[in-house]
Amino acid sequence: QPTSLADCLNLDDIEALATRKISRKAWGYYYSAADDLTSKTLNNTVYTRILMRPRIFIDCTKCDTSTSLLSHRVNVPFFVSPAAMARLGNPAGEAGIAQACGKYGVMQVISNNASQTPEQIVEGAGEGQVFGWQLYVQQDRQKSVEMLKRIKRLPQIKFVCLTLDAPVPGKREHDERTKSAAAGGVSGNLPVRSSLQQAGSAGAGGVGRALFAGTAPDLTWKTTLPWLRQHTDLPIVLKGLQTHEDAYIASLHAPQVKGIILSNHGGRAMDTAPPSIHTLLEIRKYCPEVLSRLEVFVDGGIRRGTDVVKALCLGAKGVGIGRAPLFGLGAGGVEGVERTFEILKAETETAMRLLGVEKVADLRPHHVNARSVERD
Ligand code: FNR
Repeated sequence: QPTSLADCLNLDDIEALATRKISRKAWGYYYSAADDLTSKTLNNTVYTRILMRPRIFIDCTKCDTSTSLLSHRVNVPFFVSPAAMARLGNPAGEAGIAQACGKYGVMQVISNNASQTPEQIVEGAGEGQVFGWQLYVQQDRQKSVEMLKRIKRLPQIKFVCLTLDAPVPGKREHDERTKSAAAGGVSGNLPVRSSLQQAGSAGAGGVGRALFAGTAPDLTWKTTLPWLRQHTDLPIVLKGLQTHEDAYIASLHAPQVKGIILSNHGGRAMDTAPPSIHTLLEIRKYCPEVLSRLEVFVDGGIRRGTDVVKALCLGAKGVGIGRAPLFGLGAGGVEGVERTFEILKAETETAMRLLGVEKVADLRPHHVNARSVERD
């Protein structure tokens, strides 16, 4: 068992260290997934069923992990997926994650339910640091409109990421068992704070359930995208697509929609929904044109540099990590997140070198054998 960040050699070590350091409530919220954790488990194992096809006699002296995500230059092809309540695990919070992102050149998507305000999170950002802001449309639309106005005033925030896979929260039992009432006051963002108070006074179980109290369950293709366009001129990224049909419909909304994140919410919404790499393979098979109309991202279950590289080979433009930065923060504050990035970047480099690829753009489908997952 690792006892310090220096002992941590991989992302599982960091999670193990964080698990011992953070409160049960934080652990329950971060670790939890819906029902029987089937999708979470599939997310965490599916990449082992995709095989690498390394080539030999290729000079791998040089290796460059930098790429562009949504037309912004970043040092690594992985980014921080939106995840709520970072201060539950460590007081440095989302601003601490932002600090580590600045050092490693990582793009960060700020959660609608972040435990600090967007202003606090981007405050210390360096030149060229890239953020997105994730939106859960609130039942009281005016609250979302107000937030979009605030986001507009922050030039570091380059896009709005609209999450669609959790119109209602999944049933997360590890989270529910810890009871949520004491989570109030951690959130820095107004709609959330009031929903936490509501949920706390109602004695509802689980941080997740409390956070979802004001979220709108009535979003549609027809009404929500025009509404959003009316209130922001930032590029839009849709998150939580789980079928090739929805990816195709999203592509019909390009260029207004600039990207999609294939995701099952880390297994926290619909249990037994497919891992995102499965959806990516469906898109390759049924509607490959989506990959040229939009930037397609995946998240869920990324534990290793080889996972990052496999997703990129199959056409993902970038790969999101949700729990890993939270556990990094819990394991050792800003340094813990830095260690997380350091490990994942080094593993990504090693995987690219061993595959015989110097640049991200050169990662191609022929570098992997995904037949076993394609048959699912
Ligand atoms: C999330 N996720 C999430 N997604 C989102 O769009 N808005 C949010 O506020 C949150 N909050 C959140 C909290 C916690 C604790 C977790 C673990 C996840 C989902 C997240 O963006 C991402 O899709 C998954 O976490 C990816 O899976 P991994 O990397 O955690 O396996």
